[in-house]
Amino acid sequence: DVAPILPGAASEVWRYTASLLKGPDDTLTRLGDGYLGPLIRLRRGQRVRIHIDNQLPEATTVHWHGLHVPPDVDGQPRFPIQSGAQKTVSFVVDDRAGLYWYHPHPHGKDGGRVGFQSYAGLAGPLVIEDDNERGLDLPQGDQERILVLQDRSFAGDNELTYLSGGMGSMMTRMHGFRGEHLLVNGKPATMQEVSAAAHRLRIMNGSNARIYKLAWSDGRPVTVIGTDGGLLEAPEDFPYITLAPAQRVDIWISFEKAAQGTRIQLLNRPHDAGGMMGGGMMMGGMMGGSDTASDQATPLLTLEVNGRGEDGVSTRPERLSNELADLPRPDKTTAPRLFRLGMKMMQGFTINGRQFEGATVADGEAVSLGESEVWEFFNDTMMPHPMHVHGLQFRVLSRHYADARSAGQLAAGIVDSGLHDTVLVLPGERVRIALTFTDFPGLYPYHCHNMEHEDNGMMRYYEVR
Ligand code: C2O
Ligand code: CU
Ligand code: CU
Repeated sequence: DVAPILPGAASEVWRYTASLLKGPDDTLTRLGDGYLGPLIRLRRGQRVRIHIDNQLPEATTVHWHGLHVPPDVDGQPRFPIQSGAQKTVSFVVDDRAGLYWYHPHPHGKDGGRVGFQSYAGLAGPLVIEDDNERGLDLPQGDQERILVLQDRSFAGDNELTYLSGGMGSMMTRMHGFRGEHLLVNGKPATMQEVSAAAHRLRIMNGSNARIYKLAWSDGRPVTVIGTDGGLLEAPEDFPYITLAPAQRVDIWISFEKAAQGTRIQLLNRPHDAGGMMGGGMMMGGMMGGSDTASDQATPLLTLEVNGRGEDGVSTRPERLSNELADLPRPDKTTAPRLFRLGMKMMQGFTINGRQFEGATVADGEAVSLGESEVWEFFNDTMMPHPMHVHGLQFRVLSRHYADARSAGQLAAGIVDSGLHDTVLVLPGERVRIALTFTDFPGLYPYHCHNMEHEDNGMMRYYEVR
């Protein structure tokens, strides 16, 4: 009954398009017919070579989010590809099987363009496969779905609207952009048919700033089998999943016992931990599309059971991966390296009192190649910050909540097991992570992945020496 809302004029949408020069046929796949970049499928251990041709009217970069690659091919702000220019990058795929992604990372004199360029359409998923995963008999083919969650606002002929002017723009800089419409793979609340068998839903939050609270409409727990950096040791059940910008979650669900025609929805439940602590309604309304816009859960996707599945992939897996047990464990007595997330009045957010200063590192931002460390993010602001570290996958060691209110709304859905490249730090919270710096010396960014926070300076480099 509601007219479909699709991104309109080509002038308003920027796209990644790609063609395969050499390699397996499934390296590139279109994800539906929306604006998203193609799904890139790679194998662990392979060397890839990618030619990037910037036909945009401004400088960009292509960042391989979550991948352990050398700094010069990481698509960092230090290496912009100017409008009309080309660059070839080549690297060995070293990461575990998992869902990663790619997006722009330019940052000029006037700030970052990550939020705008990603919003305009530049983002795509990247899947890595490996032998461990192949040996597991997880749902595949039509029983494996990739779902990219984003939010957009439209005006006129379905043109995308981003920062308005004046007050709206100021609020967006503060809270990050949240669109009124929730899209899955570039489409509003779609329906997909599933067979009466087990399925694997690989979900990525490609939104600029929105934090999702994902649940099943029939109240069943959400079974998680993987995170940013691949499979968990074993499946874990959650009442709902808290998915912050840039994070991924790998979900297992079985429709084996469901009658034909049964419909199950993936819901986004409301919460107001999106940065409006106290008295948020007025400000939320002004922004148009805050997380609190409705008390109702919003369906993101309807799955309708139709047909029988193939045999053999319906049982819930018991063990997934043994690799995590072998990772280096930092000494519990090691003093953590502290990163205080703060705020500068009318200027945006800071890390240890500083904002982005280009390719420089301050005291406390240099680490040693080959070493393991504990970092602590202390969120001394009233907004959540999904903190992302380039170049590696880390583990989450502990959380200490100070603000029961935001924790109470989102904490039960935070998946801390497994490997991550982005960790949500709630207001008042202290989160400790364990990182190991291997293979590549040099500079890597670390930043808040609320793209408007990042673009407005909540980003720094660290150096591996
Ligand atoms: Cu998803 Cu610095 O990036
Ligand atoms: Cu990244
Ligand atoms: Cu932030």
